[in-house]
Amino acid sequence: MTDTSGDTITETPLRIRRATIDHLRPVVELDARITGQAKPEYWADIFERYGSRRVDQRFFLVADAADRPDEPALMGLIVGEVRGWEFGSEPCGWIFAVSVDPDQRQKRIGEKLFRAMCDEFRNVGINTVRTMVQRQSTLHMSFFRGEGMVAGPYIQLEMNLDDA
Ligand SMILES: CC(C)(COP(=O)(O)OP(=O)(O)OC[C@H]1O[C@@H](n2cnc3c(N)ncnc32)[C@H](O)[C@@H]1OP(=O)(O)O)[C@@H](O)C(=O)NCCC(=O)NCCS
Repeated sequence: MTDTSGDTITETPLRIRRATIDHLRPVVELDARITGQAKPEYWADIFERYGSRRVDQRFFLVADAADRPDEPALMGLIVGEVRGWEFGSEPCGWIFAVSVDPDQRQKRIGEKLFRAMCDEFRNVGINTVRTMVQRQSTLHMSFFRGEGMVAGPYIQLEMNLDDA
């Protein structure tokens, strides 16, 4: 089996492309399946911000089945953005979300989404990609470490305002 670029990746022909409004409902459904919480308003806002504004620096990519072009069979998604100068940082790419359909995991779909996002960043002149993972999320940690990410130069600090 091959994807649209000709790589052998998964049993299902895969296409990585920018999300369109047709993907909104499948994205809400996939996220609800994974997190147990439906957030239609949140995703509508993400679509509006990442799908239609500053699209040269904001990327909402989806993986769907290449052989069903009229009916998005969503297999995964990734959302990222170029951000610059916060925290004294040169512009870099941030990945905010990555999710693969639980029935489609460990077929390299997450990896292909990650690499597609890195290509988007490279194409706009960015050479550093960052993300943040919860300490207890060993799955996210294994995935991002497996893709080559390592600890960066920043430490996240926080404080509970009720205790301050
Ligand atoms: C993390 C996730 C995106 C990985 O997607 P995937 O398509 O299954 O991953 P891939 O098949 O591309 O695997 C790539 C690498 O990730 C790591 N990995 C993936 N699944 C793993 C698992 N279950 N355990 C350990 N490592 C794993 C491995 O390093 C793997 O490379 P390897 O097979 O050579 O060891 C997917 O498991 C997922 O969507 N998890 C839930 C995400 C979530 O909670 N999203 C909501 C908030 S954003």
